[in-house]
Amino acid sequence: MKSQDIRSTFLSFFENKQHSIVPSAPMVLKDDPTLMFVNSGMAPFKEFFLGNAEPKNNRLTDSQKCLRVSGKHNDLEEVGYDTYHHTLFEMLGNWSFGDYFKTEAIAWAWELLTEVYKIDKDILYVSVFEGSDDADKLEMDDEAYNIWKQYISEDRILKGNKKDNFWEMGEQGPCGPCSEIHVDIRTPEEKAKVPGKDLVNMDHPQVVEVWNLVFMQYNRKADGSLENLPNKHIDTGMGFERLCMVLQDVKSNYDTDVFTPIIREVETITDKQYGASGASGEKIDIAIRVICDHVRAVAFSIADGQLPSNTGAGYVIRRILRRAVRYGFTFLDKKEPFIYRLVDVLAKKMGTAFPELKTQKQLIENVIKEEEASFLRTLDQGLLLLDRIVETTKGKEVLGAKVFELKDTYGFPEDLTDLILREKGYTYNVEAFNAELEKQKSRGRESSALKSDDWTVLIEDAEQEFVGYDTLESNVKITRYRKVTSKKDGEMYQLVFNLTPFYAEGGGQVGDKGYLEDVRGDVVYILDTKKENNVVIHFTKNLPKHLNETLKAVVDSKQRHRTECNHTATHLLHQGLREVLGAHVEQKGSAVHSKYLRFDFSHFSRVTAEQLQEVEDFVNARIEGKLPLEEHRSVPVEQALADGAMALFGEKYGDAVRTVRFGQSMELCGGTHVNNTGDIWHFKIVSEGAVAAGIRRIEAITNDAVKDFYSETSTAFSEIKALLNNAQNPKEAVLKLQNENSDLKKHIEDLLKDKAKNMTGELANNLTEINGVQFLAQKVDLDAGGIKDVAFDLGSKHKNLFLLFGSAVGDKAMLTCYISKELVAERDLNAGTVVRELGKLIHGGGGGQPFYATAGGKHPAGIEQALNQAKQYVE
Ligand code: ALA
Repeated sequence: MKSQDIRSTFLSFFENKQHSIVPSAPMVLKDDPTLMFVNSGMAPFKEFFLGNAEPKNNRLTDSQKCLRVSGKHNDLEEVGYDTYHHTLFEMLGNWSFGDYFKTEAIAWAWELLTEVYKIDKDILYVSVFEGSDDADKLEMDDEAYNIWKQYISEDRILKGNKKDNFWEMGEQGPCGPCSEIHVDIRTPEEKAKVPGKDLVNMDHPQVVEVWNLVFMQYNRKADGSLENLPNKHIDTGMGFERLCMVLQDVKSNYDTDVFTPIIREVETITDKQYGASGASGEKIDIAIRVICDHVRAVAFSIADGQLPSNTGAGYVIRRILRRAVRYGFTFLDKKEPFIYRLVDVLAKKMGTAFPELKTQKQLIENVIKEEEASFLRTLDQGLLLLDRIVETTKGKEVLGAKVFELKDTYGFPEDLTDLILREKGYTYNVEAFNAELEKQKSRGRESSALKSDDWTVLIEDAEQEFVGYDTLESNVKITRYRKVTSKKDGEMYQLVFNLTPFYAEGGGQVGDKGYLEDVRGDVVYILDTKKENNVVIHFTKNLPKHLNETLKAVVDSKQRHRTECNHTATHLLHQGLREVLGAHVEQKGSAVHSKYLRFDFSHFSRVTAEQLQEVEDFVNARIEGKLPLEEHRSVPVEQALADGAMALFGEKYGDAVRTVRFGQSMELCGGTHVNNTGDIWHFKIVSEGAVAAGIRRIEAITNDAVKDFYSETSTAFSEIKALLNNAQNPKEAVLKLQNENSDLKKHIEDLLKDKAKNMTGELANNLTEINGVQFLAQKVDLDAGGIKDVAFDLGSKHKNLFLLFGSAVGDKAMLTCYISKELVAERDLNAGTVVRELGKLIHGGGGGQPFYATAGGKHPAGIEQALNQAKQYVE
């Protein structure tokens, strides 16, 4: 069976059992502080389990893209070394939300595996929860055991502990016992030696778990205790790549058709072979597995809208790609970008199930290629730095701090440093390196760690309603609150209300600010509003005095209005860009603040000044057109799309969506907007440029900010005009000044050259002989070019020369050292070392060649001392 058929068979099997097939949710999570990426099939359905939202059908099935590269489930370092862990993998799942339970879940899993996929029963093992003696005092899952007994002989039903057979979503929330299904695909000989049941859950590559059936029947409360859930749920997850391994009768996930086309492509590009024997063969295999796995993770992330970057989820993606580049660089000898060339086969292979790979192929290729090229440059630079470090290392062990600096400042990974050092016969101090790393980590932990107390619940089971589309003020009750502490913000409180006019940060738009007021007029400010698992949370510095009273919640209307101007302008800008540049333009990021808006979009060439003006005019024409807001709050998503609403790829939409329309611009959007585009007053683009390969960024302002912008510009212009003695034509006056300035510069250069020439003779008279060296250390009043001329001029006329010149302009100091080549060779003198050491006296540093080097610093007072110390090198 081809992998494509394996996937579709799973989905149609459950469709026939009245499940709705839903598409995979995007991998990058937007408003979940506990999770960066979807790491299991159930993550996108968290809010259904928590009761914060309702599914359209209480039976669902899907194949979910999962990424296990950060947080609790992090498999990154395993990938490549074994054959069954992945960064990105697909999890096939079926869900029951308060509908069927164990009997059906087990019966259907068995039917699908043994009757539809026709897996031999004799290679299957199942496990059930054995119960626990700890505080939870859980009974063994007899119910599951008795159901399994109907399908499989009892010697194949294993009992498992809490770690393997009790699944919890997180610290709190729905959880329950689970049954895992394992396969044993070893040869009969191997099976005769060790029985399969001894290898279950023992990290054997051919005795692996394929499916986990979780029976959600408890809720873990904040105090750690368990309570029975009113409704019982089913959450299952089957590893798609592992299932393919079993059904295609191969020994590793990488030998399935999910991976083989990519592996063949790597072989072609690199001229290396996968599966060749020998020690270097093993390294090559690891590298090929790493690359084939990682290109999938990175390509899917980019398609989901997550570009590599320096922070958060983007940084994780960057690290994954860099890991792939490193393995290619080190073990496959690829010194130029090549991973982007694998996107084509990936898109061909998986584009039917995941069309985003096809539609965004060019962008994915561009971004990966650019990232590869830039990291390869880093590697090149790192190699040079490493050479320098080795040069200055006494003995054969490099300082751990140096290796750390290479990693931290230049992104040069320590394992590569290690490899190169070994080739040169060096090692480095690993303990010192680890100590530096630990120091950095704990600095990071301190500044980002958020400690939160348990929620104090004032009103049990309270629902929450957002009323902020219609009003900026309402009477609210606090339903729960908690204290959170972080290094950055200190102590804060998080409050949840029964209803709220406050918009929570989302869809690029910032969260509302405002205040809470009690009947006595006491006020507590709301500093920010964010969402956590669909619940709106208000941040305050203090708690209101009367927590149980009805309070007036008031949104800062000025900030909200400015933000709305920017949000509506963002929609018009999106429309304008597609109109002017073409329909290939897609939104790739958006930040809507009260002061400005930022919009990232895909476009593969420069945007000309004319195009930019056209876009600005387009938006302003729609502002002048005074287009009213047409908003529909609950439209079936299919209908909204059929009506032409623009949806963003990588955004998770519910079944019913909100559409926002101004004239011909229609988007799926949860944000807040002006009632009429006329309210925006004016739109002005303030900058445009590239942020990554194929991604451009526009920053723009609206409303009051435009007035401020023009008034500041006009003031600055008046001031400049005044400085130009109120010239009639200021542009001409500036051009004239520029020309004069460049003439003068040229003139000064000539004068300095003459001066240098004259000086050579004078300086030659000052040479003194020390130990057979013609020595001179002196302050000179020349620029860098002049000093170089003088030094080389003297060098051509005198042998055995050692020169150190000091010079200063304003608060900048410079040292220049020249040493005749024969001295460098015979006396082991090095100009680079001289300026590096003496450079400290002028509070600076520098380098260069052994015969000529310069150092710059910001302490001219140190020049004298540096000149005095120069003698020691020749003495
Ligand atoms: N949620 C379960 C898992 O991830 C199915 O294993």
